[in-house]
Amino acid sequence: MSSNPLAASYSAIPQFDLAEQYGIIGSEIREAVERVLSSHQFILGREGATLEEEIARFCGVAHGVGTGSGTDALVLALRSCGVAAGDEVILPPFTFVATGSAVSALGAKPVFADIHPSTYNIDPAQLDRRVTPRTRAIVVVHLYGLSADMDPIVEFARKRNLPVVEDSAQAIGATYQGRRTGSLGDVACFSFYPTKNLGACGDAGMIVTNSAERAARLRTLRNHGQTGKYVSSEPGWNGRLDEIQAAILRVKLRHLPEWQRARQAHAAEYTRHFSQIPGIMPPLVPDGYEHVFHQYSIRVEERDKLQRLLTEKKIGSSVYYPVPLHLQPLYASLGYKAGDFPHAEHAAQEVLSLPMYPELKSAQLARVAEAVTEFVRH
Ligand SMILES: Cc1ncc(COP(=O)(O)O)c(C=O)c1O
Repeated sequence: MSSNPLAASYSAIPQFDLAEQYGIIGSEIREAVERVLSSHQFILGREGATLEEEIARFCGVAHGVGTGSGTDALVLALRSCGVAAGDEVILPPFTFVATGSAVSALGAKPVFADIHPSTYNIDPAQLDRRVTPRTRAIVVVHLYGLSADMDPIVEFARKRNLPVVEDSAQAIGATYQGRRTGSLGDVACFSFYPTKNLGACGDAGMIVTNSAERAARLRTLRNHGQTGKYVSSEPGWNGRLDEIQAAILRVKLRHLPEWQRARQAHAAEYTRHFSQIPGIMPPLVPDGYEHVFHQYSIRVEERDKLQRLLTEKKIGSSVYYPVPLHLQPLYASLGYKAGDFPHAEHAAQEVLSLPMYPELKSAQLARVAEAVTEFVRH
């Protein structure tokens, strides 16, 4: 990247960029990979075990169990809650499809509960309408890097003896009333997909929990249900995290706090630009929450038109997510229809995620903010 700020302001601005990060920490990553290569231990070794401890400590929980992906983490976590064919699982419809397909993978039925319109997370007030005698678990998603409103959700679940699973794929480091996501429910799942705030160089994930018993079962489940060498006590599969990804993630975890601060500073700068502009709704950060801005998602009418304009100006943007789960062809057989979850549907039409990554420059951010502001003013 050029050191000339004018040149930077006229080049394309991607929505997400990994190149600069690799330029900064490349040598640390290569050293970590080399360490694994020369150890010849690629699966279930020291790197993975250490990462599990480090992530658990980071979240303020007792146990971490590495998995092959965030999706593996979700399926295994749901299994550890006893979710099986014929059960119902409550979850928000405004999320990445993996949250729902993890439920479906177990033969269980996703039961959607609408989101709150200003946080985009599951609305605790909707749970009562969705719970049935067949409900087996509640999955919350901390979307874009903001925790769901956990206290009322956990209280609701406790009264009914239901486990709460956190889908924290997008929210490592986020806090709710001073506690980090991962420590707020019974069991929590992280994705280390490369573009996540903590991203591997391939697929990887992790489950965290305070229950030693659950952690032990999860270790069995992610490794073909094996309780001893070549002895399996229940069906599992290969859901393991590999040593190269674990070593890379350990390097990146050391940088996560500084990256998080950079994301938060960028978000504050965007919000300063947008807060006085009618027609742009910046992300809400309620009191008592720390948002980690995996995405900085605004809301605007005529979102698609704005996205086209940004593309013309070589500014990247993304829509997370244009089709809520209840309207996905995958779930046509569940019989939901447009209008069932108005807040999720409305958000799907209006949200737009702007460029956000730690290395984003002030001049680039100002160019994005100017382009968005100009659009809503005309
Ligand atoms: C909210 C959410 N849940 C689950 C996943 C699945 O994670 P993975 O891609 O690591 O399987 C992702 C990300 O991809 C996600 O954003």
